[in-house]
Amino acid sequence: MPRVFKATEIEKEDKEIKRDYLDRHMPHVICPDHVKRGEKFAVKVKLGEEYPHPDEYDHFISMIQLWNRETLLAEARYTAGVYGSLPSNVEIDFYIIAPDVSMNLSAMSVCTKHGLWQSEDKAVKVV
Ligand SMILES: [Fe+2]
Repeated sequence: MPRVFKATEIEKEDKEIKRDYLDRHMPHVICPDHVKRGEKFAVKVKLGEEYPHPDEYDHFISMIQLWNRETLLAEARYTAGVYGSLPSNVEIDFYIIAPDVSMNLSAMSVCTKHGLWQSEDKAVKVV
C-alpha cells in the first residue's frame, strides 16, 4: 500500500522546511460552502498555491480524483507533456449535481515520482 501524504497530518515544522515540495503536490478543493439541492456546481481541484509541479516524462501529475467521503465521484488522468513539459499548477473543474445531503469533499492527486497526496476536507452544505 502506498503512503498517502495527507494535508491534515503534515506537521507545522515540515510545512516550513519542505514548503515547496509539499505545496507543489498538495491538491486543494475549491467550491462554494453552500449549494442548492439538485443544482449543478463546479468543484475546482488545484495543486499548489505558490510552487508549480514539473511536467517531465518521468515526473508528472498522472491523476486527480474527487471524493465525497468514501465515494469516488470523478477522476481525471494525465499524460506527460500535457502542460507543455513546463512546470505548472495542475487544475481541473469537475461539475457535479448537489445531492440531497451535505457533502464532505476531498481530492487525491498522484505524482509519478512522489506518490499519493490527499487534500484537506471541504464541507459543502446542501440547502
Ligand atoms: Fe512530484
